[in-house]
Amino acid sequence: MYDAPNSERDVEVKDIRIAATGVQVYYGDTHAIKDVSVQIEDKTVTAFIGPSGCGKSTFLRCLNRMNDTIDICRVEGDIRIDNEDIYDKRVDPVQLRAKVGMVFQKPNPFPKSIYDNVAYGPRIHGMAKNKTDLDEIVERALKRGAIWNEVKDRLHAPGTGLSGGQQQRLCIARAVATEPEVLLMDEPCSALDPIATAQVEELIDELRQEYSVVIVTHSMQQAARVSQKTAFFHLGNLVEYGVTDKIFTNPQDKRTEAYITGRIG
Ligand SMILES: Nc1ncnc2c1ncn2[C@@H]1O[C@H](COP(=O)(O)OP(=O)(O)OP(=O)(O)O)[C@@H](O)[C@H]1O
Ligand SMILES: [Mg+2]
Repeated sequence: MYDAPNSERDVEVKDIRIAATGVQVYYGDTHAIKDVSVQIEDKTVTAFIGPSGCGKSTFLRCLNRMNDTIDICRVEGDIRIDNEDIYDKRVDPVQLRAKVGMVFQKPNPFPKSIYDNVAYGPRIHGMAKNKTDLDEIVERALKRGAIWNEVKDRLHAPGTGLSGGQQQRLCIARAVATEPEVLLMDEPCSALDPIATAQVEELIDELRQEYSVVIVTHSMQQAARVSQKTAFFHLGNLVEYGVTDKIFTNPQDKRTEAYITGRIG
């Protein structure tokens, strides 16, 4: 049998989950994303970093068509997830958002019980045959959100009554309940204290086993801790994209270097 040399064996080849080509985004006359092409891998955490206003959230929102909800926003170019053009007219954005889940900066549980927060998506998408089925889906999602032990005795209490860090993990549980393939997170820890942040970071690392995770963060320490790939944006351009360790230790572009050493931002 062919035995690959070490160097070859050590290079992990991951499937491409998201392929974006020539993406442009405009808000009215503002050109917010300029000809961005990137390929995002499966079972990988990809961090989007860059100064405020550089377009991180805008580009992230292109990946599940959240920009559709902003009237003045226009998206051009080609974005494929698992080789399917997500801007094709036949694609239902609601179905797409079940497949490409999103977690926001501020924990935003619905004003419903913990149980109903998580059951919401599976109910809309008819994922459960009966109550037992739904109970199992909810339990599994809360376990994946690393919050099951803290809430299992009060599933019918309001989600809004949890602490900030618990609410954010509940929102992650809600996002994974529909069995998404991609999880988008826009600064998911910025409202959390260091302990809750560490819990969410640990969870992100576990989620990577099953999903492609894309996280926007202002914390370079966080990007270095949780991601394997990093994309650096500047003034709407994707300046540099590659292996996280390399971006942080040996950036190829002066703008990336200036940002990671704290000279721009
Ligand atoms: N809803 C909107 N309407 C008009 N312009 C917008 C809108 N959202 C973003 N923009 C503009 O698009 C550009 C990119 O903004 P975006 O929010 O994507 O940046 P960001 O990198 O996420 O910044 P931050 O780190 O501050 O969150 C900015 O110039 C911003 O002013
Ligand atoms: Mg943003």
